Amino acid sequence: MLSFNQLLEHVNTAMAALDLNRQPDRLYAPIRYALSLGGKRLRPTLLLMAYNMYRDDTERVMPTALGIETFHNFTLLHDDVMDRADVRRGKPTVHKLWGDNTAILAGDNMLVMAFRMMQQADDAHLRQVMDIFSATAVEIDEGQQMDMDFETRMDVAEEEYIEMIRLKTSVLLAAALKIGAVQAGATAADTEALYDFGICLGLAFQLQDDLLDVYGDYATFGKKIGGDILCNKKTFMLINALARADKAQQQVLGQWLAATDYVAEEKIAAVTHIYDMLGIRELAAKRINAYFDKAVAALDAVSLPDERKAPLKELACALLQRRS
Ligand code: IPE
Ligand code: IPE
Ligand code: MG
Ligand code: MG
Ligand code: MG
Repeated sequence: MLSFNQLLEHVNTAMAALDLNRQPDRLYAPIRYALSLGGKRLRPTLLLMAYNMYRDDTERVMPTALGIETFHNFTLLHDDVMDRADVRRGKPTVHKLWGDNTAILAGDNMLVMAFRMMQQADDAHLRQVMDIFSATAVEIDEGQQMDMDFETRMDVAEEEYIEMIRLKTSVLLAAALKIGAVQAGATAADTEALYDFGICLGLAFQLQDDLLDVYGDYATFGKKIGGDILCNKKTFMLINALARADKAQQQVLGQWLAATDYVAEEKIAAVTHIYDMLGIRELAAKRINAYFDKAVAALDAVSLPDERKAPLKELACALLQRRS
């Protein structure tokens, strides 16, 4: 069995070997740019890890791992247009460098590229892989639309937020694990348990992303701190701040959310100050831990010896900066 880092290295080597030298260059240059900036490569490595729990010949499923990562990067190109985000992975976003139209088209191209990669799954598993993948792609669209709809709503409930992040983020992590397990010939029960692990891990992961968007360090996060605050994103943090705020804090939050002409840094500082006063950071951290525990419980249900499951558990810990 290989470690997360060993599998990650295989992913990076295979990503670097992709031939993206087609014309017109203004379409393929942004694709090369997006796919070469790395990122954590979490999803393809999860796919290989799930497969590797059962079988050793991980190279066999590499095309599907690359498909998942290419798809993820497609969602980021479009997400950065939708979120008006100027930096990702510490670099200017594709739409900033090439414009919205090229970012949309390069994303479309990567989406199709991803489907073609997934189609390289073995005939025996092809239909199941494509069914999981296409259903997941549709769910992510639904989650992304909900995320945008919530920007202009003030009454988003926490349950709606959880459902939104399940769709926009968790299902892709879960699908990566499931597609790996399916291709390894895992039982339906194991496949579902791994999917559930991915869902809970994804919820914790997105909650942490939302937390880091406020409290992270730009140098490691690689995205503009406060971006969610500027877009009025109804994150777990904002929803809970609105619920916990007293009258005066409600008013301050309401004014900033309604403001159209403001200094970005002032809005970020004002909203963050209210989060600080209300203990929102601690509340989010507690919830992240709760989903981590749920993820571990789902992994426990997989019918393999503990040592086979250890790498996934370690990854979850590392990802959520927990020691156990
Ligand atoms: C970013 O995903 C989008 C979210 C679901 C938060 P990652 O944090 O996995 O992005 P990269 O690929 O490592 O840059
Ligand atoms: C991203 O959520 C989910 C998808 C890209 C599908 P975010 O909008 O929070 O991701 P970042 O923070 O821009 O990476
Ligand atoms: Mg975004
Ligand atoms: Mg977004
Ligand atoms: Mg985010």
